[in-house]
Amino acid sequence: MGERVSTGIPGLDFMLNGGLVSGRTYLVKGAPGTGKTTLAMHFAMAGVHNGENVLYVTLEEPAENLKADMMNFGFNLSDLHFTMIDATPTAERYVLMENFFESFAESMDKMLAAIKEQFKQRYYHRVVIDPITMLKVATKDDIEYRRSFLTFVKAVGRLKTTVILTSELQRTDVEEYLVSGVIELRMFELQGKLARGIRITKFRGSSFDGTIRPYKITDSGIVVYPDHVLPLP
Ligand SMILES: Nc1ncnc2c1ncn2[C@@H]1O[C@H](COP(=O)(O)OP(=O)(O)OP(=O)(O)O)[C@@H](O)[C@H]1O
Ligand SMILES: [Mg+2]
Repeated sequence: MGERVSTGIPGLDFMLNGGLVSGRTYLVKGAPGTGKTTLAMHFAMAGVHNGENVLYVTLEEPAENLKADMMNFGFNLSDLHFTMIDATPTAERYVLMENFFESFAESMDKMLAAIKEQFKQRYYHRVVIDPITMLKVATKDDIEYRRSFLTFVKAVGRLKTTVILTSELQRTDVEEYLVSGVIELRMFELQGKLARGIRITKFRGSSFDGTIRPYKITDSGIVVYPDHVLPLP
């Protein structure tokens, strides 16, 4: 079994029996506002705190907004070990929506090329792509998307880095099949209150806690309660 990599969230590491397996690719899925970006940032910052290099590709939230939002949780994205690629559509691109989608038709490949380019400069221990949703929506052809996603997962696998991909989509069949693990974030209404639950639905090469566990988003980010079940008292 490979070396474990902390997600930066102690309760989640506990559910994972110590953390993610190093060098593999994981999917974090959940509806908007469930905390995917926050979870990915815990993972990124845990790397930075260990002195590792971290590459963060943001596809929806512009770098400036992300920095401000994450500052609220006490995450400082200005560390030298933290590299961000802002791949959010620019205002100009929005105007040329047709062109924008066209140019992103082979986006998984473009993303891979950009990541490989970064790796030429230095090795990154951790990579985040947040979210991959845009790439899927932008790819008109399903078969083409499958092909490029498979190529992508194989290629990042060769880079020996630990990767988190996030997705807002309910249906992520291909992605779930190809990655080494899947973490799902959910929101419910329980007794008239918002309840958040986290569940590991797949984790290759390790045992794990498959129970849905409560989590909260606090001023210091995500807190997972691995000894509790929903709803929290
Ligand atoms: N200090 C805080 N205390 C409690 N909740 C907070 C706090 N700061 C932000 N939140 C909540 O945390 C969530 C932010 O989550 P995040 O941006 O990580 O979600 P996401 O799954 O990435 O969403 P999206 O799909 O829109 O990108 C929001 O629901 C927000 O309301
Ligand atoms: Mg997000």
